[in-house]
Amino acid sequence: MTWLITGGAGYIGAHVVRAMTAAGEAAVVYDDLSTGIAARVPDGVPLVPGSTLDRERVTRVLTEHGITGVVHLAAKKQVGESVEQPLRYYRENVEGLRVLLDAVTEAGVGTFVFSSSAAVYGMPDVDLVTEETPCVPLSPYGETKLAGEWLVRAAGRAAGLSTACLRYFNVAGAAAPGLADVGVFNLVPMVFERLTLNVPPRVFGDDYPTPDGTCVRDYIHVVDLAEAHVAAARALRSSPGRALTLNIGRGEGVSVREMIDRINAVTGHDLSPEVVPRRPGDPARVVASADRAAAELGWKARHDVQDMITSAWQGWVRLHPEAERH
Ligand code: UD1
Repeated sequence: MTWLITGGAGYIGAHVVRAMTAAGEAAVVYDDLSTGIAARVPDGVPLVPGSTLDRERVTRVLTEHGITGVVHLAAKKQVGESVEQPLRYYRENVEGLRVLLDAVTEAGVGTFVFSSSAAVYGMPDVDLVTEETPCVPLSPYGETKLAGEWLVRAAGRAAGLSTACLRYFNVAGAAAPGLADVGVFNLVPMVFERLTLNVPPRVFGDDYPTPDGTCVRDYIHVVDLAEAHVAAARALRSSPGRALTLNIGRGEGVSVREMIDRINAVTGHDLSPEVVPRRPGDPARVVASADRAAAELGWKARHDVQDMITSAWQGWVRLHPEAERH
């Protein structure tokens, strides 16, 4: 099979490309390079620049490369930006997906893996979020991911396409320093940035109903996440007509305070965090039940938070050598 990986020049996409090729799958990257970086695409993997909104170009790449499966990661993913620019998010994430699915079903491609998010759940009121937990997204970003799942499942049913919607929890880490996330939009890089500036990292609220009062999340190593895509791609290939919706997490909650303590330990910094007011819209606790992914794919995360922080820090220091303390 040959897989088209949209967004394959992005942080998560580049890890998926590596996991797929390491597993012996042929891959072609399709990326508009708006946030993707061409150098992340490994030698020997074709990179076709283009947008999923460009129907003609999508059809051309599908036919010219004999694509038989698609892993779709190309999307906008900043929650705050989605609140300010909802129409842009709906266009890129929903319309871009609709156009892609239209081309995919017309070209007779049989399998489709979709990058979804725990953001579809919004503020879940359960200890462990299962795939049956109601989806009540709180941001346009989360809405576009939920609408995306609807599109994928409906198009799959109508066209006999095998589909998987993978709901990522909090992704961190890197397979190699050059593949680390360069954005500073999530807890780990935001803490790194503060430590580099020699100012205390910030805790957004410590009065949540959690053991230490700070928010609890399920952090997943990007290498494990990438492996989940390989497992999903293979599960779909061996059973046509299947429709999977799966949480991709570790099933273990870690609080913001615990994360900051571990980051200090790994990086050799020791700045005590400063507690600032809650960030609007943050749920107290979002932790996956990873049982369904284990049952359906035989997949389980192997890397812990220590691996995530250590590998992310190596990537950070490569870009910010001044961050290292001696
Ligand atoms: C965010 C997105 C979510 C997306 C996920 C993965 C929001 C509201 N949600 O989740 O939709 O699926 O990323 O990309 O943006 N924190 C601090 N101090 C900091 C930075 C973060 O205390 O300097 C806290 C946050 O309040 C939160 C936790 O750390 O409780 C994790 O934050 P973050 O990494 O931004 O991820 P989420 O908000 O969980």
